[in-house]
Amino acid sequence: MNRTLTVLIAAILALAACSRAPETGNIPHSPKVDSLMKVMTLDEKIGQLVLFTSDWSVTGPSMRQGYLDDIRNGRCGNLLNAYTSDFTREVQRIAVEETRLGIPILFGYDVIHGFRTIFPINLGMSCNWDMAAIQESARIAAEEASAAGLHWTYSPMCDICVEPRWGRVSEGAGEDPYLGSLISAAMTKGYQGDDLAADNTIAACVKHFAAYGAPQAGRDYNTVDMSERWFREFYLPPYKSAVDAGAVSVMASFNELDGVPAHANAHLMQEILRDEWGFGGFVVSDYTGILEMIAHGYAKDLKDASRLSINAGLDMDMMSSGYMDYLKELVESGEVSMKTLDQAVRRVLDVKAALGLFDDPYRYCDTQREKERTLTAENKAFAREFSARSMVLLKNDGVLPLKKGVKTAVIGALASSKDDLLGSWRGAGEVESVPASILDAIKEVTPVIYAEGCKEIGDDRSGFDAALAAARSADQVVLVIGEDCQWSGEAASRSSINVPGVQTELLEKLAASGKKVAVVLMNGRPLDLSKESEIASAILEAWFPGTMGGYAVADVLFGDVNPSGKLSITFPRNLGQVPIYHYAKNTGRPYVHVGTKYESRYLDVENEPLYAFGHGLSYTSFDYSDIRLSADKFAGNGSITASVTITNTGAVDGTETVQLYIRDLVGSVTRPVKQLKGFEQVSLKPGESREVSFTITPEMLSFYRQDMSWGPESGDFHLFIGGASDDVQKAEFSYEI
Ligand code: GLC
Repeated sequence: MNRTLTVLIAAILALAACSRAPETGNIPHSPKVDSLMKVMTLDEKIGQLVLFTSDWSVTGPSMRQGYLDDIRNGRCGNLLNAYTSDFTREVQRIAVEETRLGIPILFGYDVIHGFRTIFPINLGMSCNWDMAAIQESARIAAEEASAAGLHWTYSPMCDICVEPRWGRVSEGAGEDPYLGSLISAAMTKGYQGDDLAADNTIAACVKHFAAYGAPQAGRDYNTVDMSERWFREFYLPPYKSAVDAGAVSVMASFNELDGVPAHANAHLMQEILRDEWGFGGFVVSDYTGILEMIAHGYAKDLKDASRLSINAGLDMDMMSSGYMDYLKELVESGEVSMKTLDQAVRRVLDVKAALGLFDDPYRYCDTQREKERTLTAENKAFAREFSARSMVLLKNDGVLPLKKGVKTAVIGALASSKDDLLGSWRGAGEVESVPASILDAIKEVTPVIYAEGCKEIGDDRSGFDAALAAARSADQVVLVIGEDCQWSGEAASRSSINVPGVQTELLEKLAASGKKVAVVLMNGRPLDLSKESEIASAILEAWFPGTMGGYAVADVLFGDVNPSGKLSITFPRNLGQVPIYHYAKNTGRPYVHVGTKYESRYLDVENEPLYAFGHGLSYTSFDYSDIRLSADKFAGNGSITASVTITNTGAVDGTETVQLYIRDLVGSVTRPVKQLKGFEQVSLKPGESREVSFTITPEMLSFYRQDMSWGPESGDFHLFIGGASDDVQKAEFSYEI
């Protein structure tokens, strides 16, 4: 860059820094950006709306050759899938020193459940119900990612899902909008902290906007169609919660909604996101999402798709190259206004400014800090405890906890796999960083005989005999079964949710030999466990538990950690029940077990799920006193209090997540039989009691009424409190608006 121009730009930036521009939405507007835009050419502006991938990772259907030249020529201002402080420093140097204006590159990456220290998959961590811990996991991820030169993560994934066939259910927070909203806010705060310009925070990205988690038939990328009412009440809240928590970017989703692809859906990106919510950041496409509108049948070619997207509020093009190839002519022809283009550019540059990149483009490229902050003992210790507390004890006839120092048969290919512990989207997590498989970890606490038995895929039964022999020779038996970690995640939908292969056959044979079998599950979705739940003596849902997951599983199996996880998603008895979730409607012919024909039920299976939302056992037991209400009615902006006393009636310390559900008996539209409206985690020693109280407010009773206005209605309500959505006590109250 020539010296005169550099001096001129520095002078303009310095001058502008004095004035304070108004805040725009949740992004501080940088006056530096206005002055920079005054000297940018149209080509340079378009370059800031282009995001290409490096060749370090493959996260989509196409790659970009020559991305460094794109950067050098000002055609690409943002890069994903590039990290380490060395590599990002070199790329940043090209942008800062070899382009006319030296605008820094924004480096993005999928930091989904940890960066180098990998935590449980998101569906697993959502069973933790501990917002402080979930926020801490995001903070640690940001600390490690920012130390590796990254500025921006494509997380939190806020897609509500009641569809276990969908592989990406593994990346979300389950079925509930209330729990999902708390989690998306916690993760956003964890990533962004209080200062986006700090060298240990990164920008969050709310994805996939919107309702991507409801693909018909559970097939990834498939059509999404639902009423506006259902969308706003059950799918939208977690996205809004992340935006309200200050997220500076949003990613459009691959699906269409109500016939319009999200990548050109102005109802989503303009009316809801900006007009209703006041979002001030930028919207990025998903990988080639703009291009894919041709296949959707919504755009006739890439130029048309680019025009539709930018005019609907989509600011940055990930990997379609449509903006790079066509925006100039679209602006010159007037099909895209200069105002629209400038608005998109300003949003992107405001985020770069908020990250401090104009002050110090190399702020995040520090090899020493990268070494010091990654995979620290503290991070791993946190990960081990966080992972253990994300596990859910689904069944236990008393066989757990296991005894230490007792010969234990450990069976199953997944038991010895370190790679599967990391899940499908481990990003920069490396299997070399995994200190122990489940088998390794159990070996450290008790004598072990191992037999693979069978793999998690295929029908090879040749290992069955050795597994049976191992079981017969041992005093206790652990069988680790489930899915290959690549059987969930993106483009990994299944038409069945059975435990794959011949693993269940092996379980049957082991149980038939007279042994009590403790099953450990590694899976990325709710599975049909109807058969396994009959045969196994215990089932511990471990998900894909992350870098420290081997030790975490052993900690729970041998009682060093008392499991406290609660399901964030319903486990059906079989796929035929799907979709099945706790906030179901009562229907006009509810199944009330009177045995008459004309009721809403199946001929071959009961209506209740196998394991309900909120279910999770402990090695201790908890007793709930009767619910006490401070009054049985309230009105206007008043409130009442609902209280119960929880007592640990068992022999070990334990943590219980006390859940509050509410039902509105009559509404201007039908209302669910119960909705989660609050929860509180209490840790109690044996014999200890604690009173837990919830304040019942009009907001808790609010919903989209028949005229689509949001608010409560007068009437009678049921209130439920308990340790699971299907294990509650009931009270009644009324409310007068
Ligand atoms: C992928 C995913 C998205 C991810 C992006 C970048 O296709 O849909 O979740 O953040 O591309 O890797």
